Amino acid sequence: MDSKIDVAVVVGSLREGSFTRKVANHLRTYPSPFAWEEVPIGQLPLYNEDLEKPGRVPVQWREFRAALNRADAVLFATPEYNRSMPGALKNALDVGSRPYGESAWGTKPAAIVSVSPGAIGAFGANHHLRQALVFLGMPTMAQPETYVGGANKLFDESGKITKPETDDFLRAFVDAFAKWATMNLGAKSGERELAGARG
Ligand code: FNR
Repeated sequence: MDSKIDVAVVVGSLREGSFTRKVANHLRTYPSPFAWEEVPIGQLPLYNEDLEKPGRVPVQWREFRAALNRADAVLFATPEYNRSMPGALKNALDVGSRPYGESAWGTKPAAIVSVSPGAIGAFGANHHLRQALVFLGMPTMAQPETYVGGANKLFDESGKITKPETDDFLRAFVDAFAKWATMNLGAKSGERELAGARG
């Protein structure tokens, strides 16, 4: 049996040179019990409930939901757009959450890292996302709060992190997420009714 914890990595930026993805990819380099897989969101048609009918559900939605269903836990890495999460990420949350009663997010343990070139580290996006995850019923790690500011200066040209203290902090974040995910496992298959009970 595979003892790794399968983590779906959901990156809120669609940009090729995304700082957020760089941070997410860096998290994957630390030792952990995780098998990481980025689940892309840029291809998802905008959510429209009219399409939740046999024969009309977009293939991109079906593949996205299947990828989430395979995961044990979810790492969200988000930039901030206008003090909130990008629309692409909100759309992905909505697509994964339906059809009613069958949320593919399940009640999987989650963690959030928010990333910005600015000083506040996308705090607003982090907490708007957190609010949606409360409704979805996903136990989302509270500490360490991880707002990565100055992201445009975080990596050197070889892709190495320039600040040892940030490196240590991000390693501690992954360690904490490993404990959090382990404590909250079982949500993958277990509590669909809980997620589905919400309107
Ligand atoms: C931004 N940006 C931004 N940054 C921030 O810290 N707070 C904000 O509210 C916003 N708002 C915002 C809106 C829109 C529409 C764009 C395109 C950008 C700047 C943003 O942090 C910057 O573009 C990052 O580089 C985006 O993250 P990625 O793509 O590098 O991961």
